[in-house]
Amino acid sequence: MKYLHHFALASALILPNLLAAAPSVDDKSAFIADLVGRMTLEEKVGQLRLISIGGDMPRERIREDMAAGRIGATFNSVVRPENRPMQEAALRSRLGIPVFFAYDIIHGHRTTFPIGLGLASSWDIPAIENSARVAAFEASADGLDMTFAPTVDISRDPRWGRTSEGFGEDPYLVSRIAAAMVHGYQGKDPSDPQRIMASVKHFALYGAVEGGRDYNVVDMSPMRMYQDYLPPYRAAIDAGAGGVMVALNAINGVPASANTWLLRDLLRRDWGFKGVALSDHGAITELLRHGVAADGREAAKLAVTAGVGMSMADTLYDQELPALVRSGAVPQSVLDEAVTHVLNTKYDLGLFHDPFRRIGRAEDDPADVNAESRLHRADARAMARDSLVLLENHGDTLPLSKKTTVALIGPLADSPVDMLGSWSAVGVAEQAVTLRKGMEAALQGQGKLLYAVGANVTDDAHVINYLNQLNWDRPEVVLDKRTPQAMLEEAVRVANQADVIVAAVGEARGMSHESSSRTRLDLPDSQQALLRALKATGKPLVLVLMNGRPLALGWEKENADAMLETWYSGIEGGNAIADVLFGEHNPSGKLPITFPRSVGQIPTYYNHLRLGRPYTPGTPGNYTSQYFEEPNGPLYPFGYGLSYSDFQLSAPKLSAERMTPDEKIRVSVTLKNTGSRAGATVVQLYLHDEAASVIRPVKELKDFRRVKLEAGEARELSFEINETMLRFYNASLQHVSEPGAFRAQLGLDSETVQEARFELLPRQ
Ligand code: NOJ
Repeated sequence: MKYLHHFALASALILPNLLAAAPSVDDKSAFIADLVGRMTLEEKVGQLRLISIGGDMPRERIREDMAAGRIGATFNSVVRPENRPMQEAALRSRLGIPVFFAYDIIHGHRTTFPIGLGLASSWDIPAIENSARVAAFEASADGLDMTFAPTVDISRDPRWGRTSEGFGEDPYLVSRIAAAMVHGYQGKDPSDPQRIMASVKHFALYGAVEGGRDYNVVDMSPMRMYQDYLPPYRAAIDAGAGGVMVALNAINGVPASANTWLLRDLLRRDWGFKGVALSDHGAITELLRHGVAADGREAAKLAVTAGVGMSMADTLYDQELPALVRSGAVPQSVLDEAVTHVLNTKYDLGLFHDPFRRIGRAEDDPADVNAESRLHRADARAMARDSLVLLENHGDTLPLSKKTTVALIGPLADSPVDMLGSWSAVGVAEQAVTLRKGMEAALQGQGKLLYAVGANVTDDAHVINYLNQLNWDRPEVVLDKRTPQAMLEEAVRVANQADVIVAAVGEARGMSHESSSRTRLDLPDSQQALLRALKATGKPLVLVLMNGRPLALGWEKENADAMLETWYSGIEGGNAIADVLFGEHNPSGKLPITFPRSVGQIPTYYNHLRLGRPYTPGTPGNYTSQYFEEPNGPLYPFGYGLSYSDFQLSAPKLSAERMTPDEKIRVSVTLKNTGSRAGATVVQLYLHDEAASVIRPVKELKDFRRVKLEAGEARELSFEINETMLRFYNASLQHVSEPGAFRAQLGLDSETVQEARFELLPRQ
């Protein structure tokens, strides 16, 4: 009924204004062109305004502005009863143009999935897509139309706090995930009322900020840019992402938000992007601080001219654009183009056909937006299980028997908020299953769980203050008021009563967040002291790591009996981790990013370029590229992760040893599960170019297959190699292959591979 009322209301408002003399709403380009033709300058500028709900502006004022056509879209309002009156207000405006509602839905919406690094660790593309589909389903049911995701910034520097949000270091893996996330959010068509539109971010190269310090400059050769950092954005756009969020950083001297080459030449001309380009928060004003604009007028002109369409939480467009256009300093066509992109986006979201398609009817609004019935716990648990990476397992310490007494110790063992990780949207900490809860449930009626906090996440007052000042509704880090010594003594006492210790250690989630860059990558001192005390008990020590970036874990690798990387594993994390600890689930995650030995080694990434004086493992000598205090190479390589099974890969066999550019070679291997349990692993295909016109990486991931095998089962796998897989950007930035010798390298991680050599012949 209410819906009919809305629709009638919408039609009554839209019909005379939009449709009467206008082309049919089904004819997109004519419909939008007609609309733009009837808009005033102020209405056009209004469409470029993307405001944050919940700031200083009272709700009433927002609705007034909407009714006056002065707002194009919002973000941060996440319930239907809040969004509905805003949409009604927008429809009362002179032309009745609907607004859209956006939000940061990064790894789940009501149901929090593992963080980006966790999703990527699964290498399970359909499951990752499903996580985005579930997020879209839940978000659209809350009246949301768009997410500021996926975050596909390649990161080779774990000091950067936002490493947690992305999918790791590899262009190919991140590109595959980027496309899957876009498909998951948008489905076949973003107008689907149960889907939302994706806005890929942060365009571009945000993960390469100098020194891993957030918002710092990016200075990068074009070859590296094209080869390693740009492909994931391109993959998201090729998959149909409707939006792009422009990065906050500068690229080779020009801020992304004022970068005509980036937003016009590359994005639109070369890549054919037709959607909307959004600024990041306040980025147009930041052009003043970057020092490329002398005043607000110049900043607005630079941004709109470069191709920033909507302005997020920034007032410069509203203040400056009308006069800039009137004076001719900004051509009318530039403004019209930006407005057209916004209106096209609304059209593609289906909002001109039904502005309430996601807001629905008031009587259907959920009484409790956080009701358990709205969550997708089974999907979250399955995804979390597959995101866990087993780093060590000496003497089959894991899985644990359920008939034991386990001492669960550590500041992250029972911290709900830290299960969620940063950017957890409307995820509710109280609904998260901590490791303590998950293990209690698993052991019920069988073994015994003892618990002690052992240490605070850090004792560094400066860090605690920083974390608790982050802009969240409650203190992030809840401190145990006892002395470190008292906590430690209790932990040792508890450990001594148990058969095995499980220590949940790592970073508070705020340590891996926007603007949370670090100079250290080891565990905080308080937790290192705890681990040393636990080690001294002589009991088997299992580390469960919770963190949002690779850490330097030298001591831990040497001293732990088993070590499980769990990232921030989401609302079902505690159950999923318990599933793995007690062997209900065989871990299969593989690292999507290299773990360095020390912070001084960074950047450490597997696909590094070849050198004239390379370090040779085993025989490092003077005058080779090395640090003299420690070996080169990672603590744990990209693609690495153990299983409770053992997998063996045969030597690769090629279908031919030569191919012309029009031919293909198949490379086959047999994978055998030689263990006693069913399990999954990821077979990875890397390619190595022996000689080319420019230096090429030692290896590059080109394909992979996640395979599940029963105990004792063997399967032959075959990968196709074609000419496009051999291409790279040459010194003139042409994407070419060059005839010559290559090696196909197959392995279960990036370090231990078996090779087969083949040749690409010149075109006949
Ligand atoms: C700033 C962040 O950089 C971006 O990722 C986010 O989408 C916006 N704020 C909106 O919250």
